[in-house]
Amino acid sequence: MAAERPTGIAAEPGVVKPDPILRIDGLRRTFGGLTAVQIDHLDIQRGTITSLIGPNGAGKTTLFNLLTGFDRPQEGDWRLNGGPLVGIPSYRVARKGMVRTFQLTKSLARLTVLENMLVAAKDQVGESFWGALAGRWRGIESANEQKARASLERFGLGHMAGEYAGSLSGGQRKLLEMARALMVEPELVMLDEPTAGVNPALTQSLLGHITGLRDMGMSVVFIEHDMDVVQEISDWVVCMSQGRVIAEGPPLTVARDKAVIDAYLGEHHGTIG
Ligand SMILES: Nc1ncnc2c1ncn2[C@@H]1O[C@H](COP(=O)(O)OP(=O)(O)OP(=O)(O)O)[C@@H](O)[C@H]1O
Ligand SMILES: [Mg+2]
Repeated sequence: MAAERPTGIAAEPGVVKPDPILRIDGLRRTFGGLTAVQIDHLDIQRGTITSLIGPNGAGKTTLFNLLTGFDRPQEGDWRLNGGPLVGIPSYRVARKGMVRTFQLTKSLARLTVLENMLVAAKDQVGESFWGALAGRWRGIESANEQKARASLERFGLGHMAGEYAGSLSGGQRKLLEMARALMVEPELVMLDEPTAGVNPALTQSLLGHITGLRDMGMSVVFIEHDMDVVQEISDWVVCMSQGRVIAEGPPLTVARDKAVIDAYLGEHHGTIG
């Protein structure tokens, strides 16, 4: 188990952090009578790996959906680097530097692995549309392709570039989704259960990539059920239950928190402790 890094930040739900890349205030999403997300305040500290934990149905994925513009809250405010994201659609959120992956991978099975990567880069090409008309198209295309191929190599998928994404294993698809998210050169990467269904060897490689992102200066928020993984790579842990943040702090502190243990009791994953 990794030693805990001292952060100097109090382990209290909603604690204000010194250098938040993302700041959430008064965020609420209900479905009929069900409150899926109700967060008074949450800061994501820049340059860290923050794990988001909590039992099934706690609201973790809904929170990702809201923050990245795939769903709309009833109310709330959230800011990336101080800039408001309320009402901004997902593709523009990605351009602003925040990308997410999905709990169920969304690679396009009938495109090749390389094409999947290039689709992700399209926003950037789109931004250069007029430049492209002026004859820069080819340059942009090949720059994106080079970037895509280099990234695939880094994720151990270089040899699969020409294969259909549908022929990848579940674990490889998770890697592809992560590689694809990085095509927009994000500042903040949100990963929804990247290790779920991935074999142990590939999980280790994924975790290496995640710490690598942090070491390159990115901020990472990642949803994870396996508490060993959480303890291994998190700088900070946020626990949700019934839509609320019930605890946050360094990994060991959160794992021993009574409210967290209570939230997991009777919960079928039962991997805490
Ligand atoms: N589109 C929707 N319509 C109705 N209810 C929804 C919708 N999306 C989520 N919910 C409900 O909101 C709650 C939070 O769901 P969410 O998927 O965010 O949980 P989660 O923490 O990601 O769970 P898991 O660990 O199982 O992935 C659940 O009770 C879920 O049934
Ligand atoms: Mg989920």
